[in-house]
Amino acid sequence: MSNIDVVIMAAGKGTRMHSSMPKVLHRLGGRALLQHVIATAGQIQARRVLVITGHGAEQVEAALATQSKVATVRQIPQLGTGHAMQQAVPWLADDGVTLVLSGDVPLIQSETLQALLALCAGNALALLSLNTPQPSGYGRIVRNPKQEVIAIVEDRDASAEQKRIAEIYSGIMAVPTRLLRGWLTRLDNRNAQAEYYLTDVVKFAVADGCEVKAYAIDQAWQVEGVNTPVQLAALERAYQQRQANLLMQQGVRLADPSRLDVRGELVCGSDIDIDINCVFEGKVQLGDGVRIGSHCVIANAVIGAGTQILPFTHIDGEDQAIHIGQAARIGPFARLRPGTQLGDEVHIGNFVEVKNSQLAKGAKANHLAYVGDATLGERVNYGAGVITANYDGANKHHTTIHADVHVGSNSVLVAPVTLGAGGTVGAGSVVTKDTAAGALTVARGKQIQVANWQRPTKKSK
Ligand code: UD1
Ligand code: MG
Repeated sequence: MSNIDVVIMAAGKGTRMHSSMPKVLHRLGGRALLQHVIATAGQIQARRVLVITGHGAEQVEAALATQSKVATVRQIPQLGTGHAMQQAVPWLADDGVTLVLSGDVPLIQSETLQALLALCAGNALALLSLNTPQPSGYGRIVRNPKQEVIAIVEDRDASAEQKRIAEIYSGIMAVPTRLLRGWLTRLDNRNAQAEYYLTDVVKFAVADGCEVKAYAIDQAWQVEGVNTPVQLAALERAYQQRQANLLMQQGVRLADPSRLDVRGELVCGSDIDIDINCVFEGKVQLGDGVRIGSHCVIANAVIGAGTQILPFTHIDGEDQAIHIGQAARIGPFARLRPGTQLGDEVHIGNFVEVKNSQLAKGAKANHLAYVGDATLGERVNYGAGVITANYDGANKHHTTIHADVHVGSNSVLVAPVTLGAGGTVGAGSVVTKDTAAGALTVARGKQIQVANWQRPTKKSK
C-alpha cells in the first residue's frame, strides 16, 4: 500500500515519569522512544509521518529537526486523543489510510502493522487489540453476541462487567481517512475524564455501517506503553532479550543473554563469543571468530576476524568509526578513542590509550602508554609507559614512528617528531628531535657514579 499516513501521538504529559524531559524522548535501547516508532513507520513505507506535539513541544520538535520526512503538528491544550487527531486531519489526504500510533509504545513491529493495514484494506476500521490477563487501566474491546466489535469503553467509564473483558485496545488503529474526518467532528467529551476520546469513533463506525475489525495479538511487549520509570526499565529488558535472541538465532554465542545490552546496531559474523556484561552502542560490526571478554563497552567500531577484545576494554569511535584488523589483541583495560585505526595482529595492552592514531600490522603497545596523533609502522614496539606529548598547550602535533622501531620504556616523544625505521630509543628518553634510521637514540641524563658514597647520618642530640 502506498497511501499510508502515519500519525504518532506524542503530546501527552508523561507526569508519572517525574522528569523534565518529555516522555517520548526518554531512551530505550539507546534511542528515544519516539525514534523507535518513527523507524517502524519507515519500515512500512508510510508516505508521510506526522507527530503530534504538545507537552514539551519545543524539545520534541528539536529532536526531530533533522528528519525531513517527519512533520509535526501542535496540540495545545491537550484535550484527549480524539482532540489530538482533530489537529492532524487537516494535514491528511482523503485518499489515504491513517495509521494511528503512540510515541510511548516503542516496540510495535512493522509486521503487525502490515497485518492491521491489510485488515483495514482501505475501507474498514481496524483496531489492534491484545488479549491480556491484566486489562486494568486500558480501553476494553466490547463485542456483541455475534462477536462483532461494537465499541471501545475506557477503563474509567467501564461497568464492572466490562472491566472483566480481557481484550484491550492497544491505542493503535488503521482507519480510512475520509471516514475518520467525519467521525472526529462528532466527538464529545461527556465521559469520566472530560476528554475527547479517539476511541469513540468505533461507535460512529458501527452506526454508519462501516465494518470494525480487531486484530488481536498476544505479545504484550509490542503494545506496552511507557508511563513510569519502572515500565521503561521493564520494556528495556524485553527489548534487550529480543536483541539477544535474534543474535543467538544467527549463531552468536552469548555467555548470558540477560547480561547483554545493544544500544544501536550490532552486526555479527560467524563463531562469535560475547562474555557477560558487554554494552554495544552506535554501529558495531564484528568479523568471524571475534571474541569479546566480559565488561567491555564498544561503540562505533569495525572489528576484524579473529580479533580478541579482552575484559574491561572501552572502544568508542564516536563519529569516526574505529577499525581494527584481523587477529589483533586488545585489552584487558584498553581504551581506543576516535580516529584509531589498527592493522592486523596489533596488540594493545592494559592501560593503553590510543587516540587519532594509526598502528600498522604487528605493532604493539602492551603496557601503560598513550598514543595520540601518531602513526606507527609495522612491528613497532612501543614500550611500557611511552607517551606521545602531542599537545603544546595550544596545538596538537603529529608523531611518526617508522617500521621496526623499538621505543624504550618511559620515553616521551615530544611532537612533532619522526623516528627513523629500525631505530631504537633508550628507556627514559625525552625525544625532541627526529632520529635516524637504524640508530640508537638515548636522550636522558647520563648515569654517573660516585664511589664509596656515604649517606648522611642523623645528628645525635
Ligand atoms: C489510550 C486509549 C485506550 C487504550 C490505551 C492504550 C483513548 C481515549 N484511550 O488510553 O483505549 O487502551 O491508550 O495504551 O484513546 N495524547 C495526545 N494528546 C492528548 C492525549 C494523549 O497526544 O490530548 C497521546 C499521549 O501522549 C499518548 C497517547 O496519546 O502517546 C495515548 O494517550 P494516553 O493519555 O496515554 O491514553 P490512555 O488513557 O492510556
Ligand atoms: Mg497511556
